[in-house]
Amino acid sequence: MSVIKKLETDIKGILKKAGYEVDKVLLEPSNRRDLGEYQINNAMQLTKIYHENPRDIAAKIVTELEKDNRFTNINIAGPGFINISFSDQYIYDFLNEIHEDVHNNIDKKEPKKIIVDYGGANVAKALHVGHLRTGNIGEALKRLALLLGYDALGDAHLGDYGRPLGLVLREIKERYPELKYFDENYTGDYSEVELPITNKDLEEIYPVASNKAKEDEQYLEEARIITAKIQSHEKGYYDLWKRVVDISKEDIKKTYESLNVSFEIWNGESDEMEYFDELLKIYEDKNLLVDSEGARVVEVATPEDKAPMPPLLFIRSNGAASYETTDLAAILERKINYNPDEIWYVVDARQALHFEQTFRAARKAKLVEDRVVLEHVGNGTMNGKDGKPFKTRDGGVMSLKALMDLVYDETYKKITNESIKEEEKKEIARIVAMAAVKYADLLPYRGTDYIFELEKFTDLEGKTGPYLLYSTIRMRSLLKKAEEFKATKITKLKGAAEKEIALTLLTLPLVLNRAVEAKTLNEIAEFLYKLTACYNSFYAENKIIIEEDADLRNSWIVLTETVYNINMLLLGILGIEVPEKM
Ligand code: ARG
Repeated sequence: MSVIKKLETDIKGILKKAGYEVDKVLLEPSNRRDLGEYQINNAMQLTKIYHENPRDIAAKIVTELEKDNRFTNINIAGPGFINISFSDQYIYDFLNEIHEDVHNNIDKKEPKKIIVDYGGANVAKALHVGHLRTGNIGEALKRLALLLGYDALGDAHLGDYGRPLGLVLREIKERYPELKYFDENYTGDYSEVELPITNKDLEEIYPVASNKAKEDEQYLEEARIITAKIQSHEKGYYDLWKRVVDISKEDIKKTYESLNVSFEIWNGESDEMEYFDELLKIYEDKNLLVDSEGARVVEVATPEDKAPMPPLLFIRSNGAASYETTDLAAILERKINYNPDEIWYVVDARQALHFEQTFRAARKAKLVEDRVVLEHVGNGTMNGKDGKPFKTRDGGVMSLKALMDLVYDETYKKITNESIKEEEKKEIARIVAMAAVKYADLLPYRGTDYIFELEKFTDLEGKTGPYLLYSTIRMRSLLKKAEEFKATKITKLKGAAEKEIALTLLTLPLVLNRAVEAKTLNEIAEFLYKLTACYNSFYAENKIIIEEDADLRNSWIVLTETVYNINMLLLGILGIEVPEKM
C-alpha cells in the first residue's frame, strides 16, 4: 500500500476520534502551499450528515490532528478546509519507506485479466507512422496495468486477412508463375520450396498489385479468387500465404522491437477467423442477421442515437466477411481462450464508429458477459507542420523505419562526448532516439494530435526524453561515486527543494491511478519531468559528495537513489530504456 493511502487510513481513524465516520478521506495536495502542504476536505460533506457547522467540525478534527506529531502548521481555511503540513520526521520516514521499496509508493488494484489490442499492423505492408502511437501507448498501458497488479496481455492482432493478401499472392504469381505453390500437381513439401522473396519485395509488391487491381478488372477478380482459396485453406495458396505472413511478421517484430514494443500474443485476424463458423452460428441462432441487398447485417442502432448508426456488415454481398466481423471473431476467440475481464483497443481514434458498431453487435449476441469491459482507447495522430499525418519529403507515407532513422541522425549528431567510441556512440544514439520519440509521443493526452518537431524532441533541455535520460544517468553516476559512503537512511534534510521532491513523490499513486483510469500516459510523462526538474534544482544547489555533514550527505545520497529508482521504474513503464552513458 502506498504511503499516502496509509496516511488516509490513519486520518480516517483521527476523524473517528473526533466523532465523525467517513467512507473516504478527502485528502489532496494543497494548491495553496503558503497555507499547507495537504488539505482535508471532509468537513463540508460531514455537515450534511451531522448537521453541524463545517467550521465547528473542522475545529474538532483539528484538535485531534494536533495530538499527532506527524502534522504541523494545522489550520482551517474558508468554509472548513483543513490545511496540514508534514513534520520533518514524517517526511524522512515515508521517503525511507519509498527508498526501501518503490512499491511502497504504489497502490495495487484488484486482480483482473486485461487484453490490450494495440498492434494492428498489416502484413506485407511497411509499418508506418500511424502505428507509432498505437504501439507506444498500448505497450505503456500494458506495462502500467501490470505494475498495478493486473494480469495484462498484449495482442498484436495483425491484419493478415482478406483482399490485400490475395493481391500480393496474385502479383507473386505474375512474377513467378513457375513456383510450385501454383502447381496443382505438386505433392511435395512446401517448406522445401525456395521462395525468392524478401520483406523488401513484399513492401514493393503490395502497392503495385493494388494499383493494377484498380485498372484491371480481371486481375482484381483473380485476386479475389485467390483470397477465397487462402481462406478455405486450399493447398499451395494457403501454404504460400503462410510463408508470406511469416516473412512479414519477422520484419514487423523487428520494427516493433526498435520501439521496445512487444506482444505476448501474436494472433492475426486470420487466427480469429478460425472461429467464424462458431460466430455465425451464434448470430444465426439468435436471429440477429438481417438480409440487406444480398449482404447480411446486424442492426445496432438504438432510439437514443443522436448520430447515424449504420448496421454492422457481417457478410458482404460477395460472401466475404468484413473488418467488423474479424473483430467479433476476435472477441469470441478471446472469450474462449483467455476469458478476459476487459479488452482495451488502442487504435486510431478515427476508427470510433467501427468499434461502436462492433461492441454493440457483440453485446447483442452476448459474446461476453455484460460485466466485461470493451473499450476503444482511441489515439490521435502524429502530424507534420501541415496538420496532416507526418509524411516523407515527397509527400508519401512515412515508414516507421524512416522516421526512426531521421531521429537517429539527429541524436547521433548531438553526442559530442569525445570519450565515447564509434560503436558505442551508435548504440547510445539509437536508445536516445527511441526515448526522444517515445517521450514526445506519450507526453500529450493520447487522444489529441501533435506535431512532429525533430529539434524540440531531441533537445537535451526541456520536457524531452533526452533530458530525462541525461538527468537519470547523472543520478546514477553520482550513486556510483557515493558507494563508498554506504548511505542507507534519510535522517536529515534542509531545503525547500528536497521538500518539493518529497511532496512530488507522494502524488505518484494518484497519478498512476488516474493514468490507468483514463488510459493515458500524459500525467506519468509530466510527473517524470516534474520529479526530475525538482531533483535537478536540488542538485544544482548542493554539492552532495563533498558535503561535510555526514548525516546530510548520506541523506542526500539516499534521496538521490529514491528519485533514481522511481525514474527508472516510470521510464520502464513508458518503454524507455536508459543507456549507460551519453
Ligand atoms: N489492421 C487494422 C488497420 O490497419 C487495425 C486493427 C486495429 N485493431 C483491431 N482490433 N481492429 O486499420
